[in-house]
Amino acid sequence: MCGIVGILGQEPVAWKLVDALKRLEYRGYDSAGIAVLADGHIERIRASGKLQALSEKLRSSEPIATSGIGHTRWATHGAPTETNAHPHLGGTVAIVHNGIIENFKELKEELAGKGTTFTTETDTEVVAHMIDYEMKQGKSPREATQVTLQRLEGAFAFAIMFEGEDDLMIGARRGSPLAIGHGSHEMYLGSDAIALAPFTNQVTYLEDGDYVVITRNSFELHNDKGEKITRPLNFTQASALLVDKGNHRHFMAKEIAEQPDVVGHTLAEYVDFDERTVRLPSEVELDFTDLDRLTITACGTASYAGLVGKYWFERYARLPVEVDIASEFRYREAPLTKGGLSMVISQSGETADTLAALRYCKSEGQRVAAVVNVPESTISRESDVVVRTYAGPEIGVASTKAFTCQLTVLACLAIAAARARGVMSLEQEHELVGQLVKLPRNLVKTLEQEDHIDRIARHIAGKRDVLYLGRGINFPIAMEGALKLKELSYIHAEGYAAGELKHGPIALIEEGVPVVVIAPRDELFEKTVSNMEEVAARGARIVLITDRAGAAASGADAFETITVPQADPFVAPVLYSVPVQLLAYHAAVFMGTDVDQPRNLAKSVTVE
Ligand code: AGP
Repeated sequence: MCGIVGILGQEPVAWKLVDALKRLEYRGYDSAGIAVLADGHIERIRASGKLQALSEKLRSSEPIATSGIGHTRWATHGAPTETNAHPHLGGTVAIVHNGIIENFKELKEELAGKGTTFTTETDTEVVAHMIDYEMKQGKSPREATQVTLQRLEGAFAFAIMFEGEDDLMIGARRGSPLAIGHGSHEMYLGSDAIALAPFTNQVTYLEDGDYVVITRNSFELHNDKGEKITRPLNFTQASALLVDKGNHRHFMAKEIAEQPDVVGHTLAEYVDFDERTVRLPSEVELDFTDLDRLTITACGTASYAGLVGKYWFERYARLPVEVDIASEFRYREAPLTKGGLSMVISQSGETADTLAALRYCKSEGQRVAAVVNVPESTISRESDVVVRTYAGPEIGVASTKAFTCQLTVLACLAIAAARARGVMSLEQEHELVGQLVKLPRNLVKTLEQEDHIDRIARHIAGKRDVLYLGRGINFPIAMEGALKLKELSYIHAEGYAAGELKHGPIALIEEGVPVVVIAPRDELFEKTVSNMEEVAARGARIVLITDRAGAAASGADAFETITVPQADPFVAPVLYSVPVQLLAYHAAVFMGTDVDQPRNLAKSVTVE
């Protein structure tokens, strides 16, 4: 998953490209580069590492040009070196690419057999040479590009520039997102609307198979057969996309702190605060009445939201739910009922595995509902029902506010399903919605524990192994807590069902191993406390996350206790997400890792 941008502008373009790439760094940051057309010749500046390295190079030698392409990379083929950094050149062609070309080796051999030499290990360089080769056979840039695209297998979003063609650029999309930005006598290409927000709020999204030929004053869309097509013009809330850290040290810190607000915003779209009932938005047309099963699929943190949703749908709506991670589900050929309902969950709406799973469900005749945070994303556009979260742009690679908003939406859907299936009284709905309505205030109270959690995090920082334990609906929160710690501080952490400890993982316990126990004072609390005592007896250093009643009942074993406001077990997963987010955040800050852009990661995994 990389970020790409192209600009046909009126003013010097180099720093504009860098500005756009800054907004795309969440998609990958192993290396970055730009190529511009200076007096018709391609000039290229690249640097390995973060965008800062490229900016430093530009400061000493800024090329003067008004058209160019740029790229920020998450390495797939070839190490994250400057040589492998995009843009790549092939003869008179410069190209930037997001995706993976699966048949590039055979294409490379074919070109090598015709005398082409290569300077990199990347799949992208092969594409540039293929287009250049076709142009040398007399084809126009458009024809050469179209012929080349038809030879490619795999996923791509391209921005392509041609030596000597100052008012021409070609973009193409298959499997990785690409948008056209419409300016005043300027035209742009970008991986998403966020990249283009500083220049325009008018964007056209390409669909799979599309390619576009742009000039400063025109754009011509084609499908994969070369036929001219049209796509809708969208007006984005560009200003809302111009996010910054405010007075926070990291985007992640800001996004954790925003949770009371954004959970409240999301609730406002799904709940009638006066009636204390769930009121789904009109566009969320979902009929749970006669369903015999709901299939939920997602990746990473979003998949843990799905697991929590399973508990809610099954316990309250008596609706059987199957949850699977999308990278497995997409290949499993699960038998699905025609006319049934599937659900995908995705913050970015661009995760390749989740998108593929969505397409599988549709191919099996299912209606697909997508719980997404980016309404104009590919997953949004390809789903039958969009169930929006209102977390706002989430820039930190580690998902936080999007997760609690996903949980909030799923809780509302579960209540709506229970009511539709006639298994929840109005009184019970009032009670549960009343718990949801208190969430923003209870989240504020939980955030007040931050300094205490920071002190605890310092004991976890630097450890080799950390275990997270939870039972029932909080088991997925144990897994989410472990994922946060892994991806932010690079510590090996695992989330386990507390009852599973004795079936192997307890062998990991030795003196000083931190064990984070997520245990509200619910019907499973006593059982979890006994698990806690089993590991304490073997030297584990326990961090107990519980409520006041749990803290009082837990005894002296807990080495530290984080007390969350007393609340109904129904909303515990939302509340208990915050302490595990803060534990991971402060451990990472203490260890000095890059919190907003952890190594090897990217915000949106748009490749398999
Ligand atoms: C979460 O902290 C991770 N960054 C990752 O697991 C993420 O949740 C996953 O890649 C799914 O992303 P999506 O919600 O945008 O589809």
